[in-house]
Amino acid sequence: MTGKTKVAVLLSGRGSNFVALAEACARGEVPAEIVVVVSNRTDAPGLERARERGIPVTPIPGKGVPREVHEARVLAALQGAGAEWVCLAGYMRLLSEGFIASFRHRILNIHPALLPSFPGLEAQHQAWAYGVKVSGCTVHLVDAGCDTGPIVLQRAVPVLDDDTAESLADRILEQEHIAYPAALRLLLTRPWHVDGRRVLFT
Ligand code: GAR
Repeated sequence: MTGKTKVAVLLSGRGSNFVALAEACARGEVPAEIVVVVSNRTDAPGLERARERGIPVTPIPGKGVPREVHEARVLAALQGAGAEWVCLAGYMRLLSEGFIASFRHRILNIHPALLPSFPGLEAQHQAWAYGVKVSGCTVHLVDAGCDTGPIVLQRAVPVLDDDTAESLADRILEQEHIAYPAALRLLLTRPWHVDGRRVLFT
């Protein structure tokens, strides 16, 4: 018994948020251990970053596979690893109601905008192109919508006049790497409940 919560990370790409979570766990800042990293893309660089850290990886290709079949495989991998929580870290697939019900209020996502503004793909570019003066990132519980679940934590990032979408994305990413471990730590160490759309810490 380590007293640590077993967390699975699902990713599709470079995996920098996974690394931020893994390092915060390793430093003891988050009372969790990442027990498996699952990717729907076999070539996701995040898988290599997990292997380097000795964390088990399970690539489960999603392309051309029916959603229910793919999700059943992912669920089996998570259950096989004993995962109690799931952190989506750049996981570019929507999860079904059924999958979410298996981990009710125990699936987290990070999104690179201040939700409910700019859900979906390329949120940083959407925010920059719209001309907002403040953007940021959001950690939220996952429901079956696209970036719609109850919000746990947000961090704001000013948009500068000379920003490009890329420079803004870089500064948002720095805040993501702070926000994601902080949100997981809060949820694992403080009493909380969901009241409608609101996540309340007591
Ligand atoms: C992050 O910016 C994350 O917020 C975003 O994908 C990137 C993944 O980067 N997620 C979404 O847009 C989900 N809607 P990473 O692989 O380096 O963590």
